[in-house]
Amino acid sequence: MVKAAVLGASGGIGQPLSLLLKTSPLVDELALYDVVNTPGVAADLSHISSVAKITGYLPKDDGLKHALTGADIVVIPAGIPRKPGMTRDDLFKINAGIVRDLVKGIAEFSPKAFILIISNPVNSTVPIAAEVLKAAGVFDPKRLFGVTTLDVVRAETFTQEFSRQKNPSATKIPVVGGHSGETIVPLFSKATPAFQIPSDKYDALVNRVQFGGDEVVKAKDGAGSATLSMAFAGFRFAESVIKASQGQTGIVEPTFVYLPGVAGGDELVKATGVEFFSTLVALGANGAEEAFNVLDGITDQEKKLLEACNKGLKGNIEKGIDFIKNPPPK
Ligand code: NAD
Ligand code: LMR
Repeated sequence: MVKAAVLGASGGIGQPLSLLLKTSPLVDELALYDVVNTPGVAADLSHISSVAKITGYLPKDDGLKHALTGADIVVIPAGIPRKPGMTRDDLFKINAGIVRDLVKGIAEFSPKAFILIISNPVNSTVPIAAEVLKAAGVFDPKRLFGVTTLDVVRAETFTQEFSRQKNPSATKIPVVGGHSGETIVPLFSKATPAFQIPSDKYDALVNRVQFGGDEVVKAKDGAGSATLSMAFAGFRFAESVIKASQGQTGIVEPTFVYLPGVAGGDELVKATGVEFFSTLVALGANGAEEAFNVLDGITDQEKKLLEACNKGLKGNIEKGIDFIKNPPPK
């Protein structure tokens, strides 16, 4: 029996993500939580003839507690999205507090759940979640994930003309680092099956993966950021976590984890100087089983990208940790 909970379920990502989870045969129970509209979203989805039993909760009547109790996996897309001209870091002021409070709820009501954080800025919200869980004495680094799958999905899609795969996701491209601008580092040299990018196209491709989010923000022109592609990516990652938890072996996904708490992570801390980093992670019954160092043998161009990434990432991580250790005055 798998119970999934979506926090922020009425939003642009929350609704299509909940739809995908509702239609998944892997989910038996689906709890939707948001500060608005969950009764309506749950009623609508409840007419779909799939396995999952669905419930919707608001903050009143202990809604968060009911949504989280018994949850095996909690996905968090709650929070505000960007408008043109904003960086993901500009979302920190509002989203940091939202994520902190929701994760406090998880620490209390479903401390053993796998936690998948989508809310931006991921580079800071995941460290925030880790600190909240640590403070509550329930931090299991193997169960906390920043969802960076959309960067991988974009890399697969934008390189299709070179990989020549009919299904772009048949190419595996590690995208490492964090989830914003220069902290997103596609390692095209490590793609399998390997393919060549003409040198005059390389910079533009890297830039498109790093700033793919801006492309959508600009096109939506004030109406938010990526929602549908994010729901696809979030569901892809959630499905992998659930399948691995049920014993399926050989599942490896890129995700933003606390490296010192995952086997193999220390080597990457040494190589990058940061403790939270997105890399290829083997998923198992208890979550992140091993973090792979995919940095050996990368090209000089990729080394430069990684240097810029690590600098930015360090500051983003510290900002998140500091938000919990030295809370701003209310
Ligand atoms: P949205 O505004 O459409 O939806 C957000 C939802 O969160 C709303 O329904 C809102 O009511 C809800 N919410 C706000 N405060 C809440 C709280 N305290 N508890 C529960 N729910 C709450 O935004 P969106 O487009 O769905 O984006 C959500 C977040 O996901 C943004 O921060 C965005 O930047 C981020 N995002 C991340 C990625 C990624 O790759 N990780 C990709 C796209 C978007
Ligand atoms: C994305 O990569 O699309 C998301 O992080 C949303 C954004 O703000 O760009």
